[in-house]
Amino acid sequence: MEIGVIGAGTMGSGIAQVAAQSGHKVWLFDTNQAALEKASASLDKIMARLVEKGKMSREEAAIVIARINHCTDYQSFSKCGLVIEAIIENLEIKKKVFIALENEVSDTCILASNTSSLSIASIAASCNKPERVVGIHFFNPAPLMPLVEIVPAVQTTDTNLKQAKDLIDSWKKVTVVTKDTPGFIVNRVARPFYGEAIRMYEEGIADMATIDWAMKEIGGFRMGPFELMDYIGNDINYTVTETVWTAFYYDPRYKPSFTQKRMMEAGYLGRKTGRGYYDYTEGAQNPEPDKNQVVGEAIVWRILIMLINEAADALHLNIASAQDIDLAMTKGVNYPKGLLKWADEKGIQNVLDGLDKLYLAYHEERYRASVLLRQKAAFEQKFYS
Ligand SMILES: NC(=O)c1ccc[n+]([C@@H]2O[C@H](COP(=O)([O-])OP(=O)(O)OC[C@H]3O[C@@H](n4cnc5c(N)ncnc54)[C@H](O)[C@@H]3O)[C@@H](O)[C@H]2O)c1
Repeated sequence: MEIGVIGAGTMGSGIAQVAAQSGHKVWLFDTNQAALEKASASLDKIMARLVEKGKMSREEAAIVIARINHCTDYQSFSKCGLVIEAIIENLEIKKKVFIALENEVSDTCILASNTSSLSIASIAASCNKPERVVGIHFFNPAPLMPLVEIVPAVQTTDTNLKQAKDLIDSWKKVTVVTKDTPGFIVNRVARPFYGEAIRMYEEGIADMATIDWAMKEIGGFRMGPFELMDYIGNDINYTVTETVWTAFYYDPRYKPSFTQKRMMEAGYLGRKTGRGYYDYTEGAQNPEPDKNQVVGEAIVWRILIMLINEAADALHLNIASAQDIDLAMTKGVNYPKGLLKWADEKGIQNVLDGLDKLYLAYHEERYRASVLLRQKAAFEQKFYS
């Protein structure tokens, strides 16, 4: 099957590589010639590194590279069975692309968007055949991150959903099916990892280095929240938070912080600008953590119960199954354990008590516990039996 990819930026070029490595002839489209050239140069480099590391033979690498064809018109997509759009995150522009695209593809071609935050239903609504539109959300970098969220719109038929899921499964990705709601699974459930860390910093409970140390050394997370925000980019991370918050009708649980907003405004975007919460210039002195075990455990507990609350609420609202929510967080953002499994281990009553204590202290909606946690605690049930 031929695969089309629209947008040759960070995500599109990675998705094209994944499809080509899975044996497909790929058509990579971009309105900007420079983006196509950059994607091509970057693919050459990635393939050369894979050859160097002995993960691929020179011949195989050449075949993968040759499978990716650049194009600047949608007619090249006429034989594609799937086209994935990965252009700028703007609903109006995406809709225009889908309208134009539909005129050039076959009747059976599935049309997908890699959007992180826009509604798949609204993109589908711009098409004559909305039933063939689905969200296929890869994580960055697409060739390395195993998770892909598959998002049916209300219009998507089961057959088209299954076809899309089966295809991405055949690319050796871990797929989870999620409801078409803001942030899908990962970008919704992960919000407190950043938000609650910033909140504790703002309140002076601990500095950034200490929070990062606690989350890594005690919590077992691969990166601390501030390190991770610097890695993702404070502009991108702030925008995702603001988008999720706005899309949830300003639910205080997702409220963005002034701390991160100011970092963004100052241009302290993180690693990419050499300065974020930390200083990445050569020889820079960054603060050392205060390795106080008691403080560290309190930090981890507060962030963990907020994350568990999000995971429980996503399950309560049928965003995805318990297994898929746990899989999404372990495979999409490398959490050391699934959050619902973690809740079972820590005791759901303990998690609920922790949240209620915060709620009592702050009287803020931000700390309201999911009713599912309350029900599970009342009936002494677990998420997994
Ligand atoms: N970067 C991430 O971490 C990430 C992760 C998951 C999903 N996404 C989503 O993937 C999409 C792409 O993000 P990205 O980070 O790759 O962006 P990017 O800016 O790196 O690349 C976007 C590309 O699209 C091209 N483009 C813009 N308008 C176009 C049009 N009308 N037709 C064809 N090409 C056009 C641009 O020239 C650019 O090359 C967005 O919807 C984003 O939300 C991003």
